[in-house]
Amino acid sequence: MSSVDLKALLEQMTLEEKIGQMIQLSAIFFDSADGELTGPAQEWDLDEHGLSMIGSCIGGLNAKHKREIQDRHLATDRNKIPLIFMRDIIHGYRTIYPIPLAMAGSFDPSLMEECAHMAAREASHEGTHLTFAPMVDFVRDARWGRVAESCGEDALLASKMGEAQVKGFQKDDISSPESLATCVKHFAAYGGAEAGRDYNTVEISERLLRSRYLPAYKACIDAGTTMVMPSFNNLNGLPSVGNKFLMKKILRDEWGFEGVVISDWEAIYELCVHGVARDLSEAGEMALDCSCDIEMVSRAYYDTLADLVRSKRVSEDIVDRSVMRILELKKRLGLFEDPYHGSIENSDVLLCPEHKEIAERAALESAVLLRNNGILPLNKNIKRLAVVGPFANSQAIKGTWAAMGENKDCISVLDGLKALLPHTEIKWALGCEASIDDPSKDKIAQAVEICENADAVILCVGEPQGYSGEAQSRVDISLPGVQDELIDAVTSVNSNTVALVFNGRPLTLVNLEKKAAAILEMWHPGTQGGLAAAKLILGMANPCGKLPMTFPKHVGQCPIYYDRTRTGRPKKNSDDKHEICVSDYLDCGDLPLFFFGEGLSYSNFVYESMVLDKNEITKDDTLKVSVTIRNDSDTNGKEVVQLYLCDLVASAVRPVQELIAFEKISLAAGERKTLDFFIREDMLRFYDSECRYISEPGDFTLSVGYADHMRFTQKFTLI
Ligand code: BGC
Repeated sequence: MSSVDLKALLEQMTLEEKIGQMIQLSAIFFDSADGELTGPAQEWDLDEHGLSMIGSCIGGLNAKHKREIQDRHLATDRNKIPLIFMRDIIHGYRTIYPIPLAMAGSFDPSLMEECAHMAAREASHEGTHLTFAPMVDFVRDARWGRVAESCGEDALLASKMGEAQVKGFQKDDISSPESLATCVKHFAAYGGAEAGRDYNTVEISERLLRSRYLPAYKACIDAGTTMVMPSFNNLNGLPSVGNKFLMKKILRDEWGFEGVVISDWEAIYELCVHGVARDLSEAGEMALDCSCDIEMVSRAYYDTLADLVRSKRVSEDIVDRSVMRILELKKRLGLFEDPYHGSIENSDVLLCPEHKEIAERAALESAVLLRNNGILPLNKNIKRLAVVGPFANSQAIKGTWAAMGENKDCISVLDGLKALLPHTEIKWALGCEASIDDPSKDKIAQAVEICENADAVILCVGEPQGYSGEAQSRVDISLPGVQDELIDAVTSVNSNTVALVFNGRPLTLVNLEKKAAAILEMWHPGTQGGLAAAKLILGMANPCGKLPMTFPKHVGQCPIYYDRTRTGRPKKNSDDKHEICVSDYLDCGDLPLFFFGEGLSYSNFVYESMVLDKNEITKDDTLKVSVTIRNDSDTNGKEVVQLYLCDLVASAVRPVQELIAFEKISLAAGERKTLDFFIREDMLRFYDSECRYISEPGDFTLSVGYADHMRFTQKFTLI
């Protein structure tokens, strides 16, 4: 650890220099050559001296570029305080693994950790010091485009996956040239946007906030995340960056977070657009009062903070506290010793074989087999295969926020199949585009023609990678364009049609579900996606992912999620259309198409028993739950064992079920395993109607399985 004396450093800084540390600008600001300031720097009226005081940079191209910026900065900054380079490294840097939603479907936090670490190694070698990840926004509405970046609809799963990312990126030592510091985002409840429209209002009770939305952020903070980013949205009346309840009461006071808070892009300025601040100076004051240490790219701090301090509207002590947090972060990163953080020009870790292997494993483990009439795995001796659809021969499968990942580095399904089936006659046709702007059907006939004469068809449909991600909300979450017509045409001439779905959110796939012989959910799987798909199709790998989010039948069911609270008028029988006055839809039913936690395998897992070691527990006991599973097939496989809780009677309405533990296990062909889960009183707690976090004596059930496919249910009592 650096020996730099931060207190002395702070004392020697002018007010302007301190404020400079609290401003983050994009790399383009720093690009001016020979001291001649152009572009945005000129717009800001930032001369070389002003620029020398800035504390951090978002973006930058590669190690060389960032070294040049750092060198120029250190040559001009009289205090010699290095810049921090930050960027969004969400699911890989150059080697791209599946989108976070897909990774959640792996139900494998250790794999998530491995992936995050590989991304950290690549990005850190390229000169980035901190990633704006993990994004752990809890989300129940598939219309929201940022579901792709999230870990889905379950608070426990998101917590485990968030924690794994913090561990993987940081590896307990953010000064290491193999690590990145992390910034958990977007605090809080960004995923609760009304009607799934990005940046929209979030109005939820404190009880719901605390029980579902907050746990994953908290888990990341407990795992040691370095930074927190407040969300854009207005939460119960105030945008997060100016929301004292969130930023002070919860984050700083209750959770004791002492790290740096950075605003989201221009979010401080947006306090004016939201209409809660009259001007930038009020906006800056509000944000600082909520202990926002760094302003990302807007200019409230830059334009107004010095005057706010001089006029005593803001105390300089508050500024000092923020600056100290920023300097401490720089010290922890080791930047005072090595301002380049060990970056390497042209590092050979980018896209190296080891990283591709991890990305491939991640794509294999996160794919979800949703339907299979027995056609999969395909026989490798297949003679004639038709590969059709907009994602058949597409390398545009890396997904949203793919940092420096490039489409050209991704393997398409067609290339994956060709590599593994050298003796099969493989024909391909586009069939149609996946775009909402291209309704042309003229290519469907060509696809039909090759499908007619094939032994099987691999039909690759989905949603373009640009359709999910920031500001990519949709009201229609069906397959875009004329893909359903392609499905109709292809399946009517060839019943051996295996569908592969490439997407960044749950889609409504009713037609596909009726017609395809098998459905393999591939998500946006990243660099190795097409190869992973081919291996799964051919049984060289066995699908083992489970859905991290419910797939509705119709968009009108959104938000639809598995842990819904009980209603006084539930349907008794989901198949009965004649039940009256029950919580249902006349034209759709209350069930989704695919459930949270659902996913098939080529193995046949038989749940043999679930045994509780006692029927009653006290607050000090631990209940042991033993689940025995056998792989009754000749295929090795992996199963995600999911344990759900139901609190039968409580002082507030409780969910019909909630996931309280899970574990992914390997079972060789014929193997039997007993898995033990341990339940403690703190796992039975909930927020009561007065928002107290308590457990209540009474009866509970534990079930193993998923949704309405529970294998065993047993009762126990908390006394
Ligand atoms: C996004 C953040 C991101 C930031 C910086 C914003 O628009 O909401 O998730 O970290 O940009 O790229």
